[in-house]
Amino acid sequence: MIPNVYRSLNCNALRESHIGQTVTLAGWVNSARDHGGVIFIDLRDREGMTQVVFRPEENAEIAKRSHELRDEDVVQIVGRVEKRLAGTENTKIATGSVEVVATELKIINKADVLPFQLDRELSNEDLRMKYRYLDLRRERMNKNIRMRHKITFAARNYLDQNGFCEVETPILSNPTPEGARDFLVPARLSPSKFFALPQAPQQYKQLLMVAGLERYFQIARCFRDEDLRADRQPEFTQIDIEASFVKQEDIIKLVEGLLAAMFKAGKGIDIPLPFPRMTYADAMDRYGSDKPDTRYGMEITDLADVFANTGFKIFKGVLERGEVVRAINCKGFAGITTGQMNRLNELAHEAGLPEAVKQLAYIKIEGGEYKSPLWKVFSDEEKAALTTKLDMGEGDLIFFVAGPKDMVSNVLGRTRIEVANFMELNKDSTKLNFLWVVDFPLLAYSPEEQSWVAVHHPFTRPNADDVGKLGTDNATVRAEAYDVVLNGYELGGGSIRIHESDLQAKMFGILGVTPEEQQIKFRHILEAFKFGAPPHGGLALGLDRIAMLIAGEDSIREVIAFPKNNKALDLMTDSPTNVDFKQLRELYIQSTFKPKAKDEEAKA
Ligand code: AMO
Repeated sequence: MIPNVYRSLNCNALRESHIGQTVTLAGWVNSARDHGGVIFIDLRDREGMTQVVFRPEENAEIAKRSHELRDEDVVQIVGRVEKRLAGTENTKIATGSVEVVATELKIINKADVLPFQLDRELSNEDLRMKYRYLDLRRERMNKNIRMRHKITFAARNYLDQNGFCEVETPILSNPTPEGARDFLVPARLSPSKFFALPQAPQQYKQLLMVAGLERYFQIARCFRDEDLRADRQPEFTQIDIEASFVKQEDIIKLVEGLLAAMFKAGKGIDIPLPFPRMTYADAMDRYGSDKPDTRYGMEITDLADVFANTGFKIFKGVLERGEVVRAINCKGFAGITTGQMNRLNELAHEAGLPEAVKQLAYIKIEGGEYKSPLWKVFSDEEKAALTTKLDMGEGDLIFFVAGPKDMVSNVLGRTRIEVANFMELNKDSTKLNFLWVVDFPLLAYSPEEQSWVAVHHPFTRPNADDVGKLGTDNATVRAEAYDVVLNGYELGGGSIRIHESDLQAKMFGILGVTPEEQQIKFRHILEAFKFGAPPHGGLALGLDRIAMLIAGEDSIREVIAFPKNNKALDLMTDSPTNVDFKQLRELYIQSTFKPKAKDEEAKA
């Protein structure tokens, strides 16, 4: 390290081997204590803490001045390293067996009283965000931000070693169809036109493949105007990758190696490779999710065979229509509270349980009794078959859902996750269940839009075996797409791409983009594919989510230096903000929208 004029060592460096040396330290007063007129301070810098003592017999003048020291003052201290008196060592810090006896003190900058204490967790997140620069002084946040640097650095290194070249692509660009709303930027020099901030550098990276770069990556800032969640921010970072002359298998191997390098750098562990794989169809059938958390079971069980000849009209009708009857056994959760049950019913309806079905059907087994309106309508054979198939026993709670397959998967999938939450089955962050989900469908029908939409994005390649069904049997066309999942979080997604202009145009056509619109929005890519585009594919990893999981945090806000809050506001700089009329005029923008009084109130 380059020597520093302010300090000879950092505050985590001193050991008994330094005893007798004179050192210069600089940092913040973490705390000051008065022991019978003698001031002790813990001096902190980003590396750690050192105890400094101001003894009057050493230097009466600075011992007197040391009484002025307050928490978070910035100081420089020169002093002699001494062994602490027996019994006064602090085993909690690395420098705990020594202290510095101050011979010089320079108060560089005094600090006002802070709006909150740094050594206590603060539940008021808005206050943390308003003073984020103070929040970041906490040890946990300092560790998170520095770990993020380490894993980003490891990713760059790994990709460089594998021949990938880092290229920056434009932030001022055109809309990208990644499924969210765009952030728009008015273009002053092209009146009434707008740039869109990239939701992902998808088209640019494909154009770099046409350009012959063959192996590209970028630590890319992406912007998506969508509803926020703990694992979503309006601006976030992807490790974006694209390569030419590759198949799915090549990308999977590359990304497994990349994640291994990042977990080694960030957590010091070797993750086992290769990751297990599961088809999308299996993931939906067994877990009701395309990003299943496989740390716990509670798998969905299909009950078609149990109820094949049932006399219970509802199940009979459902099975006759070709729909499904499925259940999950929440083992040991019969003691569910009324509040928890209400929450599950609310989520089930959000996930698609028809309003006509007032509540989730269930069986609770308590004290040898089967508490359920359902149990008595089942025949003895059905009861026996259910008991075996669902491994039912004392203390269990079983939920049943019947109806169209997708709805049943969604409802049981959401229920499974929420029950795991209640039972704290998803809290073990030392267990890392990586998983590839493969064979996604290419298209899904959107009843709201009354058209087919791309499950990943429109550049995804249809599986060679299914390409003939494109346009005639869209629902069954599989994509050459893959997602990497960890403990129920989607870490990344990617695909092999379409590289032929006519196939790409056909795909746009199926998605309802007319030939005229294709020329306006995608001329560059349709044209590029006519000039010798190589086969190519890639993937993007969510860097924020990876950092969150390595840190064992449950929100990506904890690993982003300056995140937006859950209303997409930056409370520190107070952005977004109003702009002057003059600025708007220069951009040819007239603000006609007046927020309703209640919106203004909500903001305040
Ligand atoms: P996708 O949309 O799946 O793919 O995004 C890739 C990964 O980015 C992360 N991510 C987010 N992280 C935080 N906040 C958000 N709002 C957010 N949205 C997405 C997730 C996700 O898995 N262009 C394609 C990639 C490709 O095909 O190569 C794309 O962007 O971890």
